[in-house]
Amino acid sequence: MKYTVLLPAAGSGKRMGAGQNKLFLELRNIPILIHTLRVFERDPNCERIVLAVKKEEKAFIEQLLKEHCITKVSDIAEGGEERQHSVYAALKVSSSKGIILVHDAARPFIHQQVIQQLVEKANTSGAAVAAVRAKDTMKKVENGIIQETVDRESLWIIQTPQAFRYTILEKAERLAEKDNFLGTDEAMLVERLGERVHIVESTYDNVKMTTSEDLLYGEAILNKREQ
Ligand code: C5P
Repeated sequence: MKYTVLLPAAGSGKRMGAGQNKLFLELRNIPILIHTLRVFERDPNCERIVLAVKKEEKAFIEQLLKEHCITKVSDIAEGGEERQHSVYAALKVSSSKGIILVHDAARPFIHQQVIQQLVEKANTSGAAVAAVRAKDTMKKVENGIIQETVDRESLWIIQTPQAFRYTILEKAERLAEKDNFLGTDEAMLVERLGERVHIVESTYDNVKMTTSEDLLYGEAILNKREQ
């Protein structure tokens, strides 16, 4: 099943504290952004990649694409203030009307099998997101005091990719913009429409490179995969 992927890459990565876009940091001498792009470049079902980038980083990113022989990037949108705005900007420049995958450029370790399951689920049901079960005991806390222990069985940690039929994602983004609603992921916007969003079980190594410890973890994941 074919799909288009939107990759928001216009963050500043403040929590990484690298003083530059964290996607340019390297794991095994290759920028994180290129690791993520390669997953989709290699997937024969991925028809095109649409990037959202900062205006001032566009030329550098275009150069990286050339250097690393990434050929599937069909469009590059200008990213927005928040991640959600970057995703919507990418959706607007994309000409695809089929299955759309949204994936954080900062998650380079997503497995092909999970991508395919998401695409198939979105095709049959409209919306599906990658998720893993919560491993720890989860509690709701207010002002430093535990209010309740939440039943872990029903808790999932949501990742990207998140896959949607184009019409659903487009409507969700349009209404969120109209209502000035800011969500932390695309599923939240789709949930507002009353649509069902399905879960596809993903893997714990699909980490988002967020803080400097994640880089060590990222190197370890690459080492393990090469064994
Ligand atoms: O900051 P965080 O890692 O949670 O961002 C997730 C993804 O969204 C990253 O790939 C980042 O580059 C992207 N992003 C974006 N536009 C923003 C903020 C984040 O494209 N305004």
